[in-house]
Amino acid sequence: MVKKIDPCTLVLFGASGNLSRVKLMPGLFRLDAAGRLPEHMAILSVGRGDVTREAWQADIKKMLASKFKDGYDQAVFQRFMARQHYHANPPDDADAFNKMKATLSNEQVFPQNLAYFLSVRPTDFAPIVEQLSGVGLLDESQYWRRVLIEKPFGTNLPSAQDLQASITKHLKESQIYRIDHYLGKSALQNIMLTRFANTMFEPLWNNQYIDHVQITNNEILGVGDRTEFYNNTGALRDMVQSHLLQTLALVAMEKPQDLSPESIRAEKIKLLQAIRPLPIKDLAKHAFRAQYSAGRVCVGDGHGENVAGYLDELAKEGVSASVTETYAALKLFIDNPRWQGVPFYVRTAKRMHEGNTAVSIRFKKAPMELVEGQHQNWLTLNIQPRECIKMEIESKIPGLDIATRTLSIDAPQRQTGDESIDSYESLLLNLMEGDPSLYLHISEVEAQWRLIDPIVKAWAEDQSAVHQYPAGSRDPEQSGVIFESTDQFWRYSIELGGDKH
Ligand code: BG6
Repeated sequence: MVKKIDPCTLVLFGASGNLSRVKLMPGLFRLDAAGRLPEHMAILSVGRGDVTREAWQADIKKMLASKFKDGYDQAVFQRFMARQHYHANPPDDADAFNKMKATLSNEQVFPQNLAYFLSVRPTDFAPIVEQLSGVGLLDESQYWRRVLIEKPFGTNLPSAQDLQASITKHLKESQIYRIDHYLGKSALQNIMLTRFANTMFEPLWNNQYIDHVQITNNEILGVGDRTEFYNNTGALRDMVQSHLLQTLALVAMEKPQDLSPESIRAEKIKLLQAIRPLPIKDLAKHAFRAQYSAGRVCVGDGHGENVAGYLDELAKEGVSASVTETYAALKLFIDNPRWQGVPFYVRTAKRMHEGNTAVSIRFKKAPMELVEGQHQNWLTLNIQPRECIKMEIESKIPGLDIATRTLSIDAPQRQTGDESIDSYESLLLNLMEGDPSLYLHISEVEAQWRLIDPIVKAWAEDQSAVHQYPAGSRDPEQSGVIFESTDQFWRYSIELGGDKH
């Protein structure tokens, strides 16, 4: 269903940054091409540099050319360019926000419903909100005003609460859009639909039938040029606190009353709050961390490339030691009747042998072992790069003897001709529609930090050398220490078919 969007202006802070170049501008262009932007909609890019409108438009043209190599529709391009404006906001100009207000007051050019996208350093979130409020640009008496806050919302529970306290001096909860870009992924939205739009899954979705669940995000990429950010953050905070816990919430939550943002968020909040805190004294059996060492990874064309280890990359930047993890695996339990006793293994790593994000569910043993060596059923919801659902069942090998083997029912979710949407496109659209379903409520952010903070602290305090895994390898064998039972093992990409190890 296409929702109506009011005439509005999108004010893009940090417009010359990488996110804007690679995701936001191309995403907005595609929305325009699909006819999803309102006719009266302007984009005001805000940056530190003093750039003319023409120079900025030329820059946007370059961003689009590098994204859409096969070209694009010229009529859409003209329309998109006509929406584009630039405002210089030098940090040392005390009057900068008044000037922005003066620019925006031109109602012929800028519709007065304003959506601010803060793609800036996290330390700038609160000051920008305060200054917007100071000049009256958050006032909703006539028009709506919304603020999108990029990840991360705080770096731990106290800083998230501080940020919340600062911005709620100026904003109501309904004006705040806290991003987790994984929620914009169609495959993640499909988790809820798969569970609740099919009769066959829900009766099995509990501790009576499920042995354990694995939520995995593996990447081939390393930390790249983000060494400083990453070394202060680590895999737990970068991926687990946000994207993976949100995925877990969608997999495990109870059925919402309806599909309203309030109902969905209420169920996710309940679930996140029901995750049992990890026993810090016994952490080694519940959490494992590691760092990649030098190795060889697979690159796009199937060839190998030798890459440096994490500590070597840091050494080049003058950092001599670090216990920051590039691999993190946790065992979590959910204290509610549905999930009592079922381990949820959540893991993420950089520089693995493959890049894949998936939810893999292993069912319990069939009540009778009819044939020796019978396998347990698996259901995998693969998120990326392939979006598909795969079910593994036991079946008789045709022939004279009674023997079974595992069959895979592998259904691509994406079919020829389906739209391929970047997560930021749905998020931008929802922001302008005023639909917060794909954004985080503060209670979700708090529950996520509350769970992760004690582990981050315990790991930071333990300065002993961190386990190393060669770049391009699979999970370190030692990570298996967190498994509840000896017959559990890490699942990999479903492309590997029957290869379970
Ligand atoms: C970001 C993390 O939030 O998500 C990155 O900061 C990570 O380290 C990225 O690579 C993964 O996102 P995606 O959409 O590529 O799976």
